[in-house]
Amino acid sequence: MTGTHWDRYWIQGGGGCLPDADRAFGPVLETLWRDFGAQLPPGARVLDLATGNGVVLRMLAAGGRRLDLTGIDSAGTLPKPPPGIALRAGVAMEKLPFRDRQFDALTSQFGIEYGDTAAIAREAVRVLKPGGRFRFVVHHADGPIVAHNRARREAIAWARDESGVLPRARQLARARLGARLPTPASFRVAVEDARARFPGQSAAAEFQAAILQTLDMGASRPPAETLEVLAEIERRAGEEIGRLDALAGAAQDEDGVRTIVGQLYAAGLDPDEATIVIDAGVPLAWRLDGTA
Ligand SMILES: C[S@@+](CC[C@H](N)C(=O)[O-])C[C@H]1O[C@@H](n2cnc3c(N)ncnc32)[C@H](O)[C@@H]1O
Repeated sequence: MTGTHWDRYWIQGGGGCLPDADRAFGPVLETLWRDFGAQLPPGARVLDLATGNGVVLRMLAAGGRRLDLTGIDSAGTLPKPPPGIALRAGVAMEKLPFRDRQFDALTSQFGIEYGDTAAIAREAVRVLKPGGRFRFVVHHADGPIVAHNRARREAIAWARDESGVLPRARQLARARLGARLPTPASFRVAVEDARARFPGQSAAAEFQAAILQTLDMGASRPPAETLEVLAEIERRAGEEIGRLDALAGAAQDEDGVRTIVGQLYAAGLDPDEATIVIDAGVPLAWRLDGTA
């Protein structure tokens, strides 16, 4: 996919590519990247693909090996990285703006599977120095991140498309053109309904609560403003659904990973056998290591 769904995400302060889900997996991923960093010579030049907010590079930097760290991402705007890390926005993994044989290592966490993996493999072999290492961590289709995000998508889509709250909110905003009208209690009840319908999944209730708050604030404001905020809430929900769909599409089962490994070979890389990153007994991700 292109960076479309992510374009505004990172600049809005996206706390990670998987806002709720990935925090729980932090320690496993941290260990995985610390170990990779420890294998690299001090000062090694590392390129992180689909870097987002540069989380992988931050973990590598914490290893203290004074690595030369660059990240690229197709999203149009990225947050400012800490000193010592360079992030380049608007750069596709399939067309890297670097000369041949520039990097000692290539990394990616929940990144390459969002792009054209055959083209990325060709770029990887081009920009890596001979003998350079790569580690790609790829969503596992049966993992908890995918399951969590599927549930989140379902909750947001229900709140936006099926709960009926959005059209009723618009109707109320328009009715306020002619009279000062309070927000009916049903909008408050809708928040509780969403909470009860999706226990352990806050997204639907948050959507309903945002509508309620907009209507409460809109009681003393021009209806056009309320309608604009409602449109923004709907647009953001659509963007998030787009990101969650992209994640579901990017996650790989065994066949998918076999295909990617084949593409790495075909490009001239030397991949190790793919392994599964396990966390608390469940498959979190695939780990693809190898050399150029
Ligand atoms: C799930 S996020 C992962 C971000 C980061 N690696 C992390 O672990 O938090 C996927 C990222 O891939 C980026 N992306 C998607 N397609 C891309 C492409 N073709 N080239 C470069 N980046 C891409 C998106 O903009 C997004 O930032």
